[in-house]
Amino acid sequence: MKIEKYLQSECASLQGKVVAITGSTGGLGEAICKYVASLGGQLILLNRNPKKTQLQIEKLKEKFGTTAKFFQVDMADIFSVKNLCQAIGEQKIDYLILNAGAYSLPREKSALGLDNVFQINFASPYFLCKNLLPNLNGGKVIVVGSIAHKYSKIKTDDIDFSKVKAPRKVYGNAKRFLMFSLKKLLKNSGVEYVIAHPGITPTNITSHYPKWISAIIKYPMKWIFTSPQKAGLNIMKAMFTSMEQNTWIGPRIFNIWGRPKVQKLNTCKEEEQKQIFEIAEEVFDKGSKINIHSLGVQEKYYNLIKSGEKIYEGRLNDDKRRLIEIGDIITIQKDPERKESFNVRVVDKKEFKNFLEMAETLGAKSLGFNGLSPQEVANIYQEFYSQEKQKEFGVVAIKVKKF
Ligand SMILES: NC(=O)c1ccc[n+]([C@@H]2O[C@H](COP(=O)([O-])OP(=O)(O)OC[C@H]3O[C@@H](n4cnc5c(N)ncnc54)[C@H](OP(=O)(O)O)[C@@H]3O)[C@@H](O)[C@H]2O)c1
Repeated sequence: MKIEKYLQSECASLQGKVVAITGSTGGLGEAICKYVASLGGQLILLNRNPKKTQLQIEKLKEKFGTTAKFFQVDMADIFSVKNLCQAIGEQKIDYLILNAGAYSLPREKSALGLDNVFQINFASPYFLCKNLLPNLNGGKVIVVGSIAHKYSKIKTDDIDFSKVKAPRKVYGNAKRFLMFSLKKLLKNSGVEYVIAHPGITPTNITSHYPKWISAIIKYPMKWIFTSPQKAGLNIMKAMFTSMEQNTWIGPRIFNIWGRPKVQKLNTCKEEEQKQIFEIAEEVFDKGSKINIHSLGVQEKYYNLIKSGEKIYEGRLNDDKRRLIEIGDIITIQKDPERKESFNVRVVDKKEFKNFLEMAETLGAKSLGFNGLSPQEVANIYQEFYSQEKQKEFGVVAIKVKKF
C-alpha cells in the first residue's frame, strides 16, 4: 500500500479545518500530524512534553509550512486536563483525535482516586471530549481504540481494574470504557463519532517493558507488524468516513495487517455500554466538582510537606481559605519563584481561635516544627499574621496528604 496514493484516493483537503490531537509526539501521532499537515489542516497539538512538541512544530513548519498551535496537558492529571479546557476557550475544532495512550505503567492512583492507566486512557479523554463539545459543534471525534478492549469486560466492583495485574486487561478495560462511553455520549449530539484502531504497530507504547524485553521484541515487531506510518492511515480513514453505530475502522487482515476497513463492532452488549456510560458520567461529575487551590510555601516547609513530615498547613481562615473543602486538591508551590510544585489532597480541616490554640491541639511536629513549644510555633506564625488578623478571621489547619 503506497501511503501517498492512499491519502490522495481516500482523503479530502483539510484546508480551513482545525484538527486537535492528543499524543502527537508518539509514533502514530507523528504520522497522523504529517498527513493532516500535508492535506492543509491546521493542527492543535495537545501534549505533555513541550520540548518534543516544539521540535515537532519546527519539523512540520519546515516540511509543510504549517504553524501548529500547542497546549500542554498531562492526561494522568485531571487538573492539567481542566486547565487545558480553560486555555482552549472558544477555539473552534473540526476534528478531535483522542490518540494519547499508555499501556504498561508503574501503577499509581490519580487525583480522582483512579488507576493511572484508567485515568490516561479513559477518564481524561472522556473529560476533555465532553468539555470540548461546544467547540466541536458539527465536527467529529475520532477515538484511537484497540483490539485489547476485547480482553476486558466491566467489573462493577473494580471499575478501574486496580486489582487486576495483566497490563493488556487493564489497558483493554480503559480502552473499552473510552470507546463505548463516547459512543453513548456523542449519539445525537451533533458531533460525529468514529472509532479507529491501528492494529499492532511498533511505537513507544511498549517502552515501559523491562529493557531486555524491549530489546528482544524491537526488531521482530518491526518485521512482523505494520509501520506506524501505515497504521496511522486507519485514523485518516476514520476522519473521512461516516460511520454506522456498530462499526469501527481497522486493518482488514485479522485486525492487524492491510488496508483500513470499516468492520463490525459487536464486542460490548447494550447493557454493558449503558453501565459504562453511567460510570463515565459519575467520573465526569467527580472531575468537574473537584476544586484546585494553590498555596505558596517556603522551601523548608515545602520539602517537609513533600516528604509527609508536615501534615497540617496553618493559615488565616479568610475568605480564600474558607473555599477549601475536604476532598479538594491543593497545588503546593515553592516560594518565592513558585516554579516547582506538587499536588496534595485535603483530608481534613480544623478551625481554631488562633495559632497558639492550633499548635497546642495539633502539636508542633504535625505542623512541621518538630522540637518547638506551642508558643514558639505561634510566634513564628505571628511574624506573618498579626494578633488582630487572627482575631478577625480565626485560623484553619488544613490536613493534607500527598498522592
Ligand atoms: N502501538 C500499537 O500497537 C497500538 C495498538 C492499539 C492502539 N494503540 C493506541 O494508539 C495511540 C497512540 O499510541 P502509540 O502507539 O503511538 O504510542 P506512543 O508512541 O507511546 O505514543 C503515545 C502518545 O501518548 C502520549 N502520552 C502518554 N501518556 C501521556 C500523558 N500522561 N499525558 C499526555 N500524553 C501522554 C505520549 O506522549 P510522550 O511523547 O510525552 O510520551 C505520546 O505522544 C494510543 O492511544 C494507543 O493506545 C496503539
